[in-house]
Amino acid sequence: MKIIVAISGASAASLGLKAYGLIPENHQKYLVVSESAKIVLRQEEGFQNRDISAPIASGSFGAEAMLIAPCSMNTLAKIACGIADNLITRSAAVMIKERRKLAIAPRETPFDPIALENMLKLSRLGANIAPPVLGYYADRRTIDDLERFIIGRWFDLLGIENNLYRRWNGEQKV
Ligand SMILES: Cc1cc2nc3c(=O)[nH]c(=O)nc-3n(C[C@H](O)[C@H](O)[C@H](O)COP(=O)(O)O)c2cc1C
Repeated sequence: MKIIVAISGASAASLGLKAYGLIPENHQKYLVVSESAKIVLRQEEGFQNRDISAPIASGSFGAEAMLIAPCSMNTLAKIACGIADNLITRSAAVMIKERRKLAIAPRETPFDPIALENMLKLSRLGANIAPPVLGYYADRRTIDDLERFIIGRWFDLLGIENNLYRRWNGEQKV
């Protein structure tokens, strides 16, 4: 599967990078990092966000899944309004128009009504709104455990096989 991971300028940019690193090698993966995310992350890798002509900007490229993690309120608002002014927002617009898998992990707290309306709109358009919410049940001992749980749930939404967390079977103790 061709999978895009996009990191916008919200806290937890390192979580998006970790998710990218955990995608199994049998997939083709592509990373886009917004300029603001680089400030948060201080790293440079993958496609340039201003490179609107990169292959993933086109529906014909055939990306099957896209994860935006974390998704800033800025990028969320642009996608919800159909603005496609950089590679992340354009790729997200492509996923929506082609009706492909799109998981968005908005990162802000608290969410204001504008962000909530944008999430509702995108959810109704078929995107999965999956903020990085911690799950405290079942064997979560370390930060790494908690992060793997979140990333595993994102991968589930995108159809990426994984064993990143122990699945609930109704018998584990909290
Ligand atoms: C250290 C730092 C942390 C930030 N955290 C968030 C955040 O958690 N959520 C958010 O929506 N914006 C956050 N911002 C603000 C965004 O980076 C800013 O709105 C930026 O314009 C987003 O651009 P982008 O959507 O192109 O990445 C943060 C900025 C900085 C410098």
